[in-house]
Parts: sequence; structure tokens; C-alpha cells
Amino acid sequence: MENKGIEKVCAFLDEAGTYYLATVEGDQPRVRPFGTALISGGRLYIQTGKVKSVSRQLAANPKAEICAMSGGRWLRLTGELVEDDDRAVKVAMLEKMPSLKRMYSPDDGNTLVLYLNNTKAVFYSFGAPIANLDL
Ligand SMILES: Cc1cc2nc3c(=O)[nH]c(=O)nc-3n(C[C@H](O)[C@H](O)[C@H](O)COP(=O)(O)O)c2cc1C
Repeated sequence: MENKGIEKVCAFLDEAGTYYLATVEGDQPRVRPFGTALISGGRLYIQTGKVKSVSRQLAANPKAEICAMSGGRWLRLTGELVEDDDRAVKVAMLEKMPSLKRMYSPDDGNTLVLYLNNTKAVFYSFGAPIANLDL
């Protein structure tokens, strides 16, 4: 499956290097820096550890937002993060980001990959029109 919007979004996340992932815990927003991003099968995946609070929050409520900034533009991604147990995606994520291999392996029972679902992507820039993409 080809989706130019997803490619644009993933390229922007890669370029930014760091993005900020917001989740919900009850009525409390939680936000932290993330850096993992991968396209597989037409989906945009991120990676984390099952032991982390972020995973617990997403299991209870998959709604999430991501914000990244690069080159005077910023991106807001809104959607749900859905767990995928596909081993091939875990392998591909660790291959794309080899520094993760110090902490994770595909069969460690901790590595978690999630893809964005029902995603809206909005690119912003001061002085330029806002670009809306439905992924
Ligand atoms: C630049 C940067 C990138 C990061 N990327 C990730 C990532 O992609 N996945 C991840 O699980 N943790 C990543 N971390 C670590 C998380 O921010 C950290 O574990 C955080 O505390 C997780 O949120 P939580 O405590 O709410 O579970 C990164 C940290 C930094 C500083």
C-alpha cells in the first residue's frame, strides 16, 4: 500500500529526530520525548517498552498526539496507537534504529510496536498555510 502522506510524515519525524508523544491518564495529559518511527505495510509505527507507563496508558486509552518540529515547521499527528505483535515489524524497527538493540530485542517480551490509526496530520508554519492530511 502506498500513501504519500504517511511517507511525508515519517520523513518529517526522521528529520526532526525527536518528537513528543502525548497520552492520557485519566484526566491528566502525559507527554515525553520519543524518536522511533517506521513505515511498514503502509502504516506508521513507533516503538516502546511494555514495562513503561506510556504503554499502560495507551492500553487503557489509545488516543494519542505527537508533535514534532523541524526547519521552522511543526507537525501535529492525532490518532490512536494500536499494538501490533508482528515480529517482522519489531525486527525492521530495530534494524532502522540499531541503537535500540542495546535495550530491546524482538523476542524479549518487552518490545512493543504500535501503529497510528484514524490519523490526522497537520503541518504548521508561521506565515504559511496550514496543510491538513488524512492518513
Ligand atoms: C530523544 C529521546 C528519544 C526517545 N525515544 C523513545 C522512543 O522512541 N521510545 C521509547 O519508548 N522511549 C523513548 N525515549 C525515552 C522516553 O522518553 C522515556 O522512557 C519516558 O520516560 C517514557 O514515558 P513514560 O515515563 O510516561 O512511560 C526517548 C528519550 C529521548 C530523550
